[in-house]
This record gives sequence, C-alpha cells and structure tokens, in this order.
Amino acid sequence: MKNFKDKKIIITGGGSGMGRHLAYQLANEGAEIFITDINAQTLKETEQEIISKGGKCKSYVVDSGSEQQIYAFKEKFLAEEKYVDVLFNNAGMALGEIEFMEVKDEHLKKIIDVNMWGVIHFTRAFLPTLISRPEAHLVNTSSVFGIIGVRTQVPYCTTKFAVRGFTEALRMELSDTNVTVSCVHPGGIKTNIARNGIHYKDGDKSANQFDEVAITTAEDAATIIINGIKKGKEKILVGVDAKLIDKIARWFPVKYSGLFKWIHEKKFKK
Ligand SMILES: NC(=O)c1ccc[n+]([C@@H]2O[C@H](COP(=O)([O-])OP(=O)(O)OC[C@H]3O[C@@H](n4cnc5c(N)ncnc54)[C@H](O)[C@@H]3O)[C@@H](O)[C@H]2O)c1
Repeated sequence: MKNFKDKKIIITGGGSGMGRHLAYQLANEGAEIFITDINAQTLKETEQEIISKGGKCKSYVVDSGSEQQIYAFKEKFLAEEKYVDVLFNNAGMALGEIEFMEVKDEHLKKIIDVNMWGVIHFTRAFLPTLISRPEAHLVNTSSVFGIIGVRTQVPYCTTKFAVRGFTEALRMELSDTNVTVSCVHPGGIKTNIARNGIHYKDGDKSANQFDEVAITTAEDAATIIINGIKKGKEKILVGVDAKLIDKIARWFPVKYSGLFKWIHEKKFKK
C-alpha cells in the first residue's frame, strides 16, 4: 500500500510508543485512524492530539487480552464503519527480567493472552473485511525476541515467536488475496514498554537500563514501519540493532545463545 489517504486503519495499543506514532504519522497522511488500548487516558490523548491537528481519529478502550472485548469491538466497529483497510496488531506488554520458573502462572497467562491471543483474535475478527477490500495490509508486531530467544524473557520470547510463526504461515495462505502481510521486528525502541511491564525486581532500575539500550525513537520506528509497508516489505526490521541481531541469528542459529548470554552479563550485571 503506497497511499494511506482516506484508508481506514485500526491500530491496537495506540495510547503509547510505536502505536501512538503510527497513528500520528498515518493521520498526517490523510488516513482515518481508529485506535484501541487498555489505557483510556493515554488513548484519549492520542486521539485529541490527532484531532487538534485536523486529522481523523476515533478511540476505543479494548483489552487485547480479552477475546470477548475484541469481538464486541469488531461488531461495533463494523456496524459503524463497514470495513477496514489496514490492521496494525501492535499492542503488547512485557515482563521485567525474570527466570522462567519464577514467573507466576497468572502473568504467564496474561502475556500470552495479550501478545499472542490478542493478535490472533484481532486478525480473525477483521480478516474477512480485509480480504473484501481491493487493497489491504495486515501488520503484526513481533520483536527481535521473535528471532532470538534470550534468558529471563522466556514468556515474552514465546509470544513473539508465536506472532512471527502465525504471521509467516498466514502470509502464505493469503498470498493469492489482496492482503499483504507484514511482520515487524523492532530492536530496542524508546517507548514505555519496560515501564508499563510487570516487574518482579526493581522496575525503575530495569526501565532505566532498557532506556540505555533502546537506540531508536518511537517516532523513527513508526516511520520505518510505514516506509516498509509502502515498499510492500513483508519482514520489517526496525533499528540497526534489529538488523544486526537478525544477521547474527542467521550466521549462528544455535551459538548466538552464548554470545547474547555474554552481552547480557556485561550489560546488566553491573
Ligand atoms: N519498545 C521496544 O523496544 C519493542 C521491541 C520489540 C517489540 N516491541 C513491541 O512493540 C509493540 C508496541 O510496544 P511499544 O514499545 O510501543 O510499548 P508501549 O508500552 O509504549 O505501548 C504499548 C501500548 O500497548 C498497550 N497495551 C498493553 N497491554 C494492553 C492490553 N491488554 N490491551 C490493549 N492495549 C494494551 C499499552 O497500554 C500501550 O499503550 C508491542 O507489541 C511490543 O511488544 C517493542
């Protein structure tokens, strides 16, 4: 999709970070923006900012971890708007650094519900209407942690590998339709992802450490994603770190573990 003017675009997780900046930039390009988020306040802020600049935006509080809320939103949205041209499955959450067996069951379930089931249910809800459009795009946000698996991030990696597998398999199924399917793999992006996460250890310390290693701004990340879509890219790596990690994973598909374990110890065990 090269031109977003008058396209109807749903962005989940539009209240912060990459979702918010995708919403701003696509509204600037003349799209009609529909944002969802669990955080009513930040969601409203994004909506108001777009409207104050003359753009079109509506917001809906939807918990991406709730199947029932996703399908209720679909009914309401399609009754009012009839169709959607682009769906960004962007909403996501993280857990702070924690060894797998220390993760509480409820948190494991929550991160899988939001990051994996949220993407699956939103896709199932809106795919028929995407397929009915002359040109449509499905954009699912995985992570570099959908390319490499790392210690203390087992639940997050599980969900992001799932998003990648789901997206790549679905892409093949949809290859004879008008729906282009992209999987986004951001590296470290300066957003609220660490601050918004569930933490077992010092949350502020981990969020600050994350800010140190996150090298791309949310604004730049959104531009990279939009440019990727315009070029029809199916795998969108966001940031030089993402490009490097992707290469390392292909050069050393098993041995990358040792390298990243060493980096992790150097960086975080100060
Ligand atoms: N920031 C990074 O370094 C990074 C790296 C790789 C992947 N990602 C992924 O990018 C996506 C966007 O994250 P971000 O970095 O902009 O973080 P962010 O925290 O700034 O934004 C995420 C948004 O998702 C919303 N959200 C969280 N749980 C939700 C739920 N249950 N229902 C609805 N909305 C919910 C949050 O309220 C927030 O507004 C996520 O899927 C994240 O996993 C981020």
